[in-house]
Amino acid sequence: MTTADLEAIANRMVEGGRGILAADESSGTANKRLTSVNVDPTEDNRRDYREMLFRTPDLGKYISGTILYDETLRQNAADGTPFTKLLADQDIMPGIKVDTGAMVLAGSPNEKITEGLDGLRDRLNEYVEMGAKFTKWRAVITIGDGIPSGYCIKANAHALARYARLVQEAGMVPIVEPEVLMDGSHSIETCQEVTENTLHTVFNALVGQGVALEGMILKPNMVISAMDCSTQASVEQVAEWTVQTLKRRVPAAVPGIAFLSGGQSELLASQHLNAMNQLGDLPWTLSFSYGRALQHSALHTWAGSSDQVTAGQSKLAHRSHMNFAAAVGKYSADLEAA
Ligand code: 13P
Repeated sequence: MTTADLEAIANRMVEGGRGILAADESSGTANKRLTSVNVDPTEDNRRDYREMLFRTPDLGKYISGTILYDETLRQNAADGTPFTKLLADQDIMPGIKVDTGAMVLAGSPNEKITEGLDGLRDRLNEYVEMGAKFTKWRAVITIGDGIPSGYCIKANAHALARYARLVQEAGMVPIVEPEVLMDGSHSIETCQEVTENTLHTVFNALVGQGVALEGMILKPNMVISAMDCSTQASVEQVAEWTVQTLKRRVPAAVPGIAFLSGGQSELLASQHLNAMNQLGDLPWTLSFSYGRALQHSALHTWAGSSDQVTAGQSKLAHRSHMNFAAAVGKYSADLEAA
């Protein structure tokens, strides 16, 4: 697999407005989502929920790839059809989350380090055989009293780069996800400063370890006010500051940037992406790789009822369509209401 082959996959992940559905919640997180809508946290219910999502009519018009969790990549629909086949029938590429989670960072109890490098090469080779085209690794940077530390940012950047190089060697496209959390009460200014520093450190590590920037996708947070900040930045400010920060720190060789939603509402996640694409003059494609901002309404509408499968699917189709429009700057309140 050459860099040009990786670049072709990366481009396909973000081309023409299509984006990525993040459905790679670990079984623990998936169980929390199920429990939140009073559904028993069982393997069958996790399967039924994902099957509802993946059988959504026309999903492939808006979604180019889905990030899966190990269990889901191996799972079949209730009738025995492999999930990977359901996705392929809609022209949706399967991807796989390969980190094993964020753990407490040694010596800094309020910060996290993402684990999963041990044995990664062998796991990657198995995922390639199973048809995965891309992967995800999420690093978590927390803003709080005296944090993030440079130590936390550097340790996570180093791990992201080691992961990305191994993934490219295996012939898949790494999604590199350094997430600066929006939990807390910090201002958009603080978010910008930390995001800028984080991206700087991450790209230094990626370049230092020889990762081909043409063959990766960046999955960053937006530059945004924290959830409990008393002053909430406007859609326009989030768009302008996010693009400014990315232009300062993300090389133009990166083909695509696919944002996480991070706790934003479904509507704001679409509005922010749209406003950024309306700014124009961008060196990379700006798209989406949302989890909650694509699934929230679908999950709550379905809520485990087989009678509500079609209704849940139409929620997912709608959100996917809205973000598809936002990824080319053509989202509007009228489209949302239509
Ligand atoms: P959210 O869009 O819910 O933040 O999830 C995206 C994701 O994949 C986090 O790793």
